[in-house]
Amino acid sequence: MTDLIQYTTRGAVGLITLANPPVNAFSAAVRAGVLEALEGIMADDALTAAVITGSGKLFSGGADIREFNTPAGMQSPNLPELIEKTEAFPKPVVAALHGTAVGGALELSMACHYRVAAAGTRLGLPEVTLGIVPGAGGTQRMPRLVGAEAALDLIVGGRPIKAEEALELGLIDEVVESDVVDAAVALAEKVAAEGGPPRRTSELEDRVTADRERPEIFEEYRKKMARKARGLESPYACVECIEAAVNKPFAEGLAFERETFVRCVESAQSKALQHAFFAERESGKVPGVTKDTATRPIERAAVIGGGTMGAGITMCFANAGIPVSIIEVAQDGLDRAMKTIEGTYAGSVNRGRMSQDAMDACMSLITPSLGYDAVADVDLVVEAVFEDMSLKKEIFGKLDEICAEGAILATNTSTLDINEIASSTARPESVVGLHFFSPANVMRLLEIVRGEATSPETLATAMRIGKTLRKQGVVVGVRNGFVANGMMLPYIRESEFLVEEGATPEQVDRVIFEFGFPMGPFQTMDMAGLDVGWRIRQAAAATRPESERYSPVADRICEMGRMGLKTKAGWYLYEEGSRTPVPDPEIAAMIEAASAEQGIERREISDQEILVRCLYPLVNLGAGMLEEGVALRPSDIDVIWMHGFGFPRYQGGPMFWADQIGLGEVHRVMQELYEQHGELLQPTALLTQLAQEGRSFGDWSAE
Ligand SMILES: NC(=O)c1ccc[n+]([C@@H]2O[C@H](COP(=O)([O-])OP(=O)(O)OC[C@H]3O[C@@H](n4cnc5c(N)ncnc54)[C@H](O)[C@@H]3O)[C@@H](O)[C@H]2O)c1
Repeated sequence: MTDLIQYTTRGAVGLITLANPPVNAFSAAVRAGVLEALEGIMADDALTAAVITGSGKLFSGGADIREFNTPAGMQSPNLPELIEKTEAFPKPVVAALHGTAVGGALELSMACHYRVAAAGTRLGLPEVTLGIVPGAGGTQRMPRLVGAEAALDLIVGGRPIKAEEALELGLIDEVVESDVVDAAVALAEKVAAEGGPPRRTSELEDRVTADRERPEIFEEYRKKMARKARGLESPYACVECIEAAVNKPFAEGLAFERETFVRCVESAQSKALQHAFFAERESGKVPGVTKDTATRPIERAAVIGGGTMGAGITMCFANAGIPVSIIEVAQDGLDRAMKTIEGTYAGSVNRGRMSQDAMDACMSLITPSLGYDAVADVDLVVEAVFEDMSLKKEIFGKLDEICAEGAILATNTSTLDINEIASSTARPESVVGLHFFSPANVMRLLEIVRGEATSPETLATAMRIGKTLRKQGVVVGVRNGFVANGMMLPYIRESEFLVEEGATPEQVDRVIFEFGFPMGPFQTMDMAGLDVGWRIRQAAAATRPESERYSPVADRICEMGRMGLKTKAGWYLYEEGSRTPVPDPEIAAMIEAASAEQGIERREISDQEILVRCLYPLVNLGAGMLEEGVALRPSDIDVIWMHGFGFPRYQGGPMFWADQIGLGEVHRVMQELYEQHGELLQPTALLTQLAQEGRSFGDWSAE
């Protein structure tokens, strides 16, 4: 037998233990091992029952997703076959669950005749997040155990639950504080002694019979999920499967689930969502940092500057249970910062997203401070003062004098050179960028900026902090705007050129929204505030080449005092208390005048041209960043765009999306745009090379 399964007996009970670290995935060998062990128990008359459990920290993470769409994934017994045989097993089978039992592991557990879980065990069917439906009977057995409404919530929502809630719902039979295997063996002995046929989930009819009387629950659920599931296929496929569980005999429902699974697993969306999943994991791997790289424990932190970003970053630490000092230069600034923090927490409490106790606990971790004494004993400082190089250098000089040896000195700068900031200290190896996005307490993306001198230990610690703060960290190199904001530039620029050439802001925003972004570039700019970009453009004006195309429209909007949503007017108008953009004829007229003034003849612009003009240039620049080494891999760029700017996950991120179109086509269009519109759109060397060689970004990173 494979050593991925341990087999022993406890009295008259055969105990099968999954032993395939790290997550006891149901790979081909594990499936074969479980089946072989069950057959052994069947053949041994001295044994009356079986218990299946997992070794290490968890029961199992489910199917091995690396086997998806591979021959190994279908090798007999495949997971559905193993699960069928488990349920059909003539002797009682009990699942003993601890840690985590998700996906295929929960599907197998539901086919066991009884389920016992250790307190706190996490159970769930997260398949929907990978663009598929549970494909081994999960959508058919779950409604039979918990009813259709709870099944919709768990399967379509992909929401994991704890054993205690699972017990209440009827998903499991027992929760124990004691040893779960002992409890499962005892239960197995008891049901075996009682005799009679095992209780098979597929034969439980009460719940589905009751649900058959209420067909409206499915329509209601579809309406309720419409917003969250916009553009996605798998949530709707899950609803259909659960509907089939309620309305069809078990075998037919199972066949329907199988067909649906096969359709989903082959879909473009599922491939993109699987890519997204692996891209996030991959982003945690960085050259020079291994799991043996020493990290500094972060027991206390300080944030310098309590403005928009500083207040949000402070909350991130408090939310993670880390005591944090927030430092301002004057009392009124400090009071303002604390008021912002308190107000934000109070808002969460009012909306029922946080308890008063949790708010109090967070507030008690935050110490407002004037002056730098507080930084002397912290493990990490995040500087978030005005974007001014001389001010930042002065502050880092001071930190160098006061901070303990080995403390991490981080800056939240969006545009400044971290190497120059580090040069104002005698310990540039301890300096790193921690680039949060606004609002810092909400946005998941964290660019971790590696300077020339940043040590592996500093980088490893910064990456760990990202995890502790529940951020999606991505390591990037030093470059103006780093990766995220740097790539935003051509996206915004082309959207502005498009409106000068004949599109309207609402048309561009509609196309980008329909592609799957939460909103288009103009609405995004209005939300963020137009003054930020205005200031950056003014600062860059002196160095901009005369010949470079430049749209004056955004500047003119700012000159009119329209700074976006916060002033109720920007690219759009906003009614009092509303965030809904309303197209403004005054802006339309101003754009037309700008076109005329520049001798641009306005024309009809197709939706396809808008999509291509907004997105291909950013893919092109992404390729440039890979060449420069500022981004480590194409999938890192995908992660940045998904988490920083809402690039639709089911499109896989810009680089993956471009690979699906084919880089030959992307390059051909870029070349055409370059010839029409000039140097800002010149294809980068890497894009050109990959296109000529018929390769993809995926091929390039696999080298
Ligand atoms: N606003 C954003 O969307 C955003 C996003 C990412 C990064 N950033 C970066 O974060 C930093 C802060 O931006 P912000 O938007 O929070 O600015 P802000 O103007 O809202 O806040 C800056 C704060 O720093 C305080 N300050 C100034 N000098 C100080 C000193 N010597 N000691 C302590 N406090 C001092 C100011 O009183 C002010 O409260 C900048 O480097 C910016 O580039 C901003």
